[in-house]
Amino acid sequence: MKDILQELEDRRKDARAGGGERRVAAQHAKGKLTARERVELLLDEGSFEEFDMFVRHRCTDFGMEKDRPAGDGVVTGWGTVNGRMVYVFSQDFTVFGGSLSETHAQKICKIMDMAMQNGAPVIGINDSGGARIQEGVASLAGYAEVFQRNILASGVVPQISLIMGPCAGGAVYSPAMTDFIFMVKDSSYMFVTGPDVVKTVTNEVVTAEELGGAGTHTKKSSVADGAYENDVEALAETRRLIDFLPLNNRERAPVRPFFDDPNRLESSLDTLIPDNPNQPYDMKELITKLADEGDFFEIQAAFAANIITGFIRIEGQSVGVVANQPMVLAGCLDIDSSRKAARFVRFCDAFEIPILTLVDVPGFLPGTSQEYAGIIKHGAKLLFAYGEATVPKVTVITRKAYGGAYDVMASKHLRGDFNYAWPTAEVAVMGAKGATEILYRSELGDKDKIASRAADYEDRFANPFVAAERGFIDEVIMPQSTRRRVARAFASLRSKKLTNPWKKHDNIPL
Ligand code: HXC
Repeated sequence: MKDILQELEDRRKDARAGGGERRVAAQHAKGKLTARERVELLLDEGSFEEFDMFVRHRCTDFGMEKDRPAGDGVVTGWGTVNGRMVYVFSQDFTVFGGSLSETHAQKICKIMDMAMQNGAPVIGINDSGGARIQEGVASLAGYAEVFQRNILASGVVPQISLIMGPCAGGAVYSPAMTDFIFMVKDSSYMFVTGPDVVKTVTNEVVTAEELGGAGTHTKKSSVADGAYENDVEALAETRRLIDFLPLNNRERAPVRPFFDDPNRLESSLDTLIPDNPNQPYDMKELITKLADEGDFFEIQAAFAANIITGFIRIEGQSVGVVANQPMVLAGCLDIDSSRKAARFVRFCDAFEIPILTLVDVPGFLPGTSQEYAGIIKHGAKLLFAYGEATVPKVTVITRKAYGGAYDVMASKHLRGDFNYAWPTAEVAVMGAKGATEILYRSELGDKDKIASRAADYEDRFANPFVAAERGFIDEVIMPQSTRRRVARAFASLRSKKLTNPWKKHDNIPL
């Protein structure tokens, strides 16, 4: 009996050793943690329960039958994050470069199936040289099995990808279909074809970092949602994000204890809006002043900064925030910001997270580059996302709500539940200057006359009351009372029930 127990311990020790000391040291030398160290940091201490530690590959080509490490390059299992269950897989770069074989894929699929069955998020830690070259098509099949599960799990359980090393070729498409991608600066990269292929095909010379590093994907491509300094920070922030999310689409996000009075007045908000309507102010100040304890988890902070997306809590409840940022492009909606916000709104709606929309938008960004790249279709994504969302929707217009962008930003007409405006709000088809230049084109030569026309227009339209007269604004509120009003609004919507007509699925303009 003792021998058998000892054998189990020996086998476990062997599996935990991964690719051996030399390769573990090489991993550490690159500033990277090992697959197991990452799991330990991600999960609550001592909560990890491993699956399939003894699984080995079955490949017999290229002498592989002589090299069959236990675990086959991926650590899988489940554990808890602040007491709530999550499933996790963590690729082990020290074993065949974390490459994906048939059995490696089966291990990932097993925990994805368990996550779906039991309604818990899947967190994938990617650090892999891609398809296990020795296994050929069996490895490609393995990827496709994972892809299929990513697709079916989308909108059912949250899926989060951490990129902590290479993620190249078709392998990128699994993270691409998950809800959030986080990367580590200087040690992770994602691309469909690497620098060598790029050079051969297009003659471009580019480094891996430039082509697919964390900076590229958080600032240029928007493939990734956040970039962190190192593995430890990325894992800690992932834990923070999970606290905002429900475990699945049939549960509500957790209600966290809060020590911030929902009735807190913020008198500084009464002077947030500058006297000059063309002067910007920082919308993030409003977000953090509305949030419990000022805690804001921003998504895609470095991309399309003219719109802000992220999570806060109000009265301990998770709320998704979408806010125009007047400090960037005057808060205009363009292709990038529409796509960014649309995806965020759809995530919130899929997982029953109420949405707070803060509006200061002068319209859609004009120009050939926007039109040629399809602002019509991309802008429609945000409109569509808001219109189909059935979660509680509370909107506060702080200043400009002009034109089509007024409609788009969770207006009353798109089933906004509470549409508030500050006294500084201007709900109109366009700004005074543009409007008078169109309406009084023949008077353009007479500066005084045009100025007086613009002043008339401002008196009539540059306020929230025309919209409030029609009931498009439910109430004009004091800026300082916004947290209290928004908290009460969401509290009143906790048992909101709204369903869309039956359909197989919609046809959102992709
Ligand atoms: C088998 C692999 C491997 C792979 C790396 N290794 N990639 N083994 N299949 N795909 C092994 C190496 O042989 C080496 O083994 C160890 O992992 C570490 O690799 P190194 O090259 O020494 O590490 P490094 O210098 O850090 O380079 C990492 C790398 C490079 C950039 C990822 O290994 C690389 O280019 N690998 C091949 C990438 C690739 O072309 N993959 C297939 C892509 S196609 P030892 O024993 O020496 O430690 C694809 C299709 C997916 O993925 C399609 C889905 C639809």
